[in-house]
Amino acid sequence: MTAEIRGRRQWPLPKQADPAAPLLRVNNLQTHFQLGRGWVKAVDGVSFGLDDGEALGLVGESGCGKTTTALSLVRLLPSNGRIRGGSVELFGIDLVPKTDRQLDRYRWREISIVFQGAMNALNPVVQVRRQIAEPVQYRLNQSESASLKRADELLDMVGIPSRRLGAYPHELSGGMRQRAMIAMALACDPAIVIGDEPTTALDAMVQAQILVLLEQLRRDLGLSLILITHDLSVVAETCDRVLVMYAGRVAEEGPVSRVFTEPRHPYTRKLLGAFPNIRSDRRTLETIPGEPPDLVNPPAGCRFAPRCAQAMPVCAGTLPPEVSFDDGVRVACHLFGTTA
Ligand SMILES: Nc1ncnc2c1ncn2[C@@H]1O[C@H](COP(=O)(O)OP(=O)(O)OP(=O)(O)O)[C@@H](O)[C@H]1O
Ligand code: SF4
Ligand SMILES: [Mg+2]
Repeated sequence: MTAEIRGRRQWPLPKQADPAAPLLRVNNLQTHFQLGRGWVKAVDGVSFGLDDGEALGLVGESGCGKTTTALSLVRLLPSNGRIRGGSVELFGIDLVPKTDRQLDRYRWREISIVFQGAMNALNPVVQVRRQIAEPVQYRLNQSESASLKRADELLDMVGIPSRRLGAYPHELSGGMRQRAMIAMALACDPAIVIGDEPTTALDAMVQAQILVLLEQLRRDLGLSLILITHDLSVVAETCDRVLVMYAGRVAEEGPVSRVFTEPRHPYTRKLLGAFPNIRSDRRTLETIPGEPPDLVNPPAGCRFAPRCAQAMPVCAGTLPPEVSFDDGVRVACHLFGTTA
């Protein structure tokens, strides 16, 4: 799978790449934000991998660190954000020690991001096709005519009719503009596209169309996707694996088919319970009592302990270790193993 997908790349792998290395391997990532009263430990020891052609869903309550995790991969963080530990290995190359200038080789060219409401970021006075051609021209050193040709191909790929090629942003609907943003994310033929709530601002019908498009692009282009969403049914329908975050850490990770049918971490169980279950007749929403912790001074042990009905004495003082199961699920909870 890996060789077949990498064989379809339009551009060579980065020079230092190890062709046999996994696509992405994030190890013990720690991204914190500096505030007057201390460091906000927004991402604090997160590890995960992503294979060629795979779709990973990133879920968890607001503020748990999903966007920060995504922005850390190519260090597009706000100015008070720092990666204070861990590694982000792409094709075996650690991106964390790279300078901003060196990272430019990877931003958009290997990992690109489509943000929520990104369609509103288009320049209103420039034709959409020109805005898509620009990164091709400047990042990949292509001529203007070759870049415009590529832009037109990309717009066709995302389902924008050829008669709309000369359109300005205000002449396109919200859904069409979000398609254009996806075309822009694909412009440099990246290996990984991150969608940070890419459909949230759109109505339900258009949301479904955009998700079908992403799924189709993943199949046709061999893309890997990281999909950040609050909508667990989207993860169920489009992702192979799911990473459940709580307060800057991984609670549970594994194949969607396993995690959604047999959630193990008490937080995952609550999260699934808080969502109308499309696979059962139960329609009552369970809420999760309490609030996530202050990430400047998080609890020393399990960060979910103050809200967990199953908390044990060990939970408050000792960080739960990650335990891996035979079915590919990983859980960080003392119910499944304790550090001796
Ligand atoms: N620039 C910043 N300075 C200080 N704290 C920040 C900054 N950006 C984010 N945070 C904090 O980091 C934590 C993680 O934020 P992040 O935006 O990654 O969460 P999220 O899971 O994407 O949430 P949402 O679902 O609401 O988008 C939150 O507690 C947030 O308040
Ligand atoms: S480690 Fe303890 S407090 Fe945390 S989720 Fe597991 S049982 Fe609950
Ligand atoms: Mg976010």
